[in-house]
Amino acid sequence: MTAFKQRVLSGMQPTGNLHLGNYLGAMVNWVKMQETHETLYCVVDLHAITQATSVWGGPATLRKSTLEVAAAYIAAGIDPNRSILFNQSRVHQHAELAWIFNCVARLGWLNRMTQFKEKAGKDRENASVGLYDYPVLMAADILIYHATHVPVGDDQKQHLELCRDIAIKFNNDFSVEFFPITEPVIMGTATRVMSLRDGTKKMSKSDPSDLSRINLTDSADDIAKKIRKAKTDADGLPAEAEGLKGRAEAENLVGIYAALSDVTVADVLKQFGGGQFSALKNALADLAVAKLAPINDKMVRLLADPGYVEGVLVDGAARAAVIAEPIMAETKKIMGFV
Ligand code: TRP
Repeated sequence: MTAFKQRVLSGMQPTGNLHLGNYLGAMVNWVKMQETHETLYCVVDLHAITQATSVWGGPATLRKSTLEVAAAYIAAGIDPNRSILFNQSRVHQHAELAWIFNCVARLGWLNRMTQFKEKAGKDRENASVGLYDYPVLMAADILIYHATHVPVGDDQKQHLELCRDIAIKFNNDFSVEFFPITEPVIMGTATRVMSLRDGTKKMSKSDPSDLSRINLTDSADDIAKKIRKAKTDADGLPAEAEGLKGRAEAENLVGIYAALSDVTVADVLKQFGGGQFSALKNALADLAVAKLAPINDKMVRLLADPGYVEGVLVDGAARAAVIAEPIMAETKKIMGFV
């Protein structure tokens, strides 16, 4: 049995509009994992182009968004010396391994992927082949580094199961124990930050209402306004977590407060339970501004020097390739490529 080193890989799409959901659901966890694991974080630009050009915005937008999202992660605490931070398209082994995995994965497996169905919508005939193949490339992102742990939001669980299925089938087909069976890591009190307008929907960059989300680039005034206007219900705050059941908006605000201050929901209710929403909202606005403003400032400073950010990605890609290259070579050897 091959012993796999604890290695984390995760990826984020290059979209400039990062929000509180990305911060609490992904960035905070990624930063923490730097303490305990070897960490690789990848801007998945090859995934971005799977949708229509009008969605990813074309060349100038792709370039800008890639640098912005990298800057946001550095600003949030990803240390480019500790972590390997890079963009996917610079390490060609991702695409190369994806081709091999295309021949391991079965059509039936991909036909079950719910994210494809959602993204393709009704006009499936017109979706790109790349959108259909998205989860296979994602498996290659992970397995090209023999990553053992992948922190993701729970909407990505199905893709990680596919990644495991691919690893298992490859190992079986060639009688090896070469690819690890990767574990999903779903962490944090607020891995699912919900819309401020509808507590049953995820906070999302594509929600038409900007009041539904707190963007990392929002001003202090905007943040305070959005939290003040956040939907609540008629009852006050309960004293115990039980009392949040079935009250999606209340649960969301309490959860966000807990996650931002790194305490439990019970702790938050000890402080605010029995009171009105207004007290929690005021405290939450201050807390959100205090947490997000420094990140925003740092991001602006980083983007004033895009050459620096690009340099981080180039350096990260070189370090990533050092890991990917021998794994690709071994894969080809296992399969008999001359
Ligand atoms: N599909 C992921 C998402 O939308 C992004 C992603 C691409 C990813 N490749 C990955 C996440 C590899 C983890 C590991 O969130």
